[in-house]
Amino acid sequence: MSTLFSPLKIKNIELKNRIVVSPMCEYSSQDGFANDWHLVHLGSFATGGAGLIITEAAAVSPEGRITFADLGLYKDEHVEKLKQITDFIKAQGAVPGTQLAHAGRKASHQEPWNGGKQAPADQPNGWQSVSASTISFFENEEPPIALDKAGIEKVKADFKAAAKRAIDAGFQVIELHGAHGYLINQFLSPFSNQRTDEYGGSFENRIRLLLEIIESVKEVWPEENLLFVRISATEWVEGGWTAGDSVALANILKGKGVDLIDCSTGGNIPNVKIPLTPGYQVEFAEKVKKESGILTGTVGLITKSDQANEIIENERADLVFFAREMLRDPHFALRAAHELGEEIKWPVQYERAKWH
Ligand SMILES: Cc1cc2nc3c(=O)[nH]c(=O)nc-3n(C[C@H](O)[C@H](O)[C@H](O)COP(=O)(O)O)c2cc1C
Repeated sequence: MSTLFSPLKIKNIELKNRIVVSPMCEYSSQDGFANDWHLVHLGSFATGGAGLIITEAAAVSPEGRITFADLGLYKDEHVEKLKQITDFIKAQGAVPGTQLAHAGRKASHQEPWNGGKQAPADQPNGWQSVSASTISFFENEEPPIALDKAGIEKVKADFKAAAKRAIDAGFQVIELHGAHGYLINQFLSPFSNQRTDEYGGSFENRIRLLLEIIESVKEVWPEENLLFVRISATEWVEGGWTAGDSVALANILKGKGVDLIDCSTGGNIPNVKIPLTPGYQVEFAEKVKKESGILTGTVGLITKSDQANEIIENERADLVFFAREMLRDPHFALRAAHELGEEIKWPVQYERAKWH
């Protein structure tokens, strides 16, 4: 039986356990550059025993940033600091991943601690956002421009160029951000995508941008490395993207060489009622896994070692992503192993702190 601490080998990459650090925006960059904050923040999860550590959303273009302070992979110069971080993560026996993202209509906002509001295009640190259609997220926001064909080609080229930089930066996993109402999700959802061309309308048309991004990333991303896609498995709204759509998408992505689907939910429609109970999104990872056969990750209000272990033991998902619990305790994996009675390797520098 697999447990939270059993390794998972996908192709030739072995994750030492099923614990993943979920992407978490830090809004602490200047012009997309990682810095010592990112080294310490991500490095602490590596010393803390997580198997896979995924950076926050890294924007593939300046206009794809949520805020002017987002991490980016849109310049060759971004690579050097990220390489230092991935080297450190690997030295601790963990696998480094990055989440490639374009915020679409959710771009050009302030950092959460400065209010999180839209930064209008004519204000400092603001710019014109783009999307599938000219529909803003909040009614009172300036609407995005709908991407034309050239704009769509640029987005695909930006993802591809960022993937190339991700190789140079030493990442072994790319997660495409197709969730939480960002650009790819804006194309997937019939609420935000009201296009009448081949990128809108039917399910097949709404998933086209994602499929084309995967294709262009795969032109450069080495076969031995891993490609994950994060989706919002349901919008929690009648008439929107459903769990059934997620299964249908998973079946297609499996055939496109995607290695794992990370199942989150929501984020594309404001003020939606979501049942926020512990592990409330596990059912989606379970459904997608069972009905498509692809590997899945689950995330959301998973904070306890036995809770996470149960998910793996019962084959409801293959990986468990943790976000806020990792901020509370970056060494969560060391603690979880102790609680579950598993013997794992600690950093030698920390061995004197082992529980006995
Ligand atoms: C500070 C913070 C930043 C986040 N940034 C991202 C992000 O960059 N990309 C993403 O897909 N999700 C992001 N999320 C969502 C988390 O990855 C995760 O899906 C969510 O917090 C639920 O997991 P949790 O209950 O373990 O926190 C963020 C969450 C937090 C708390």
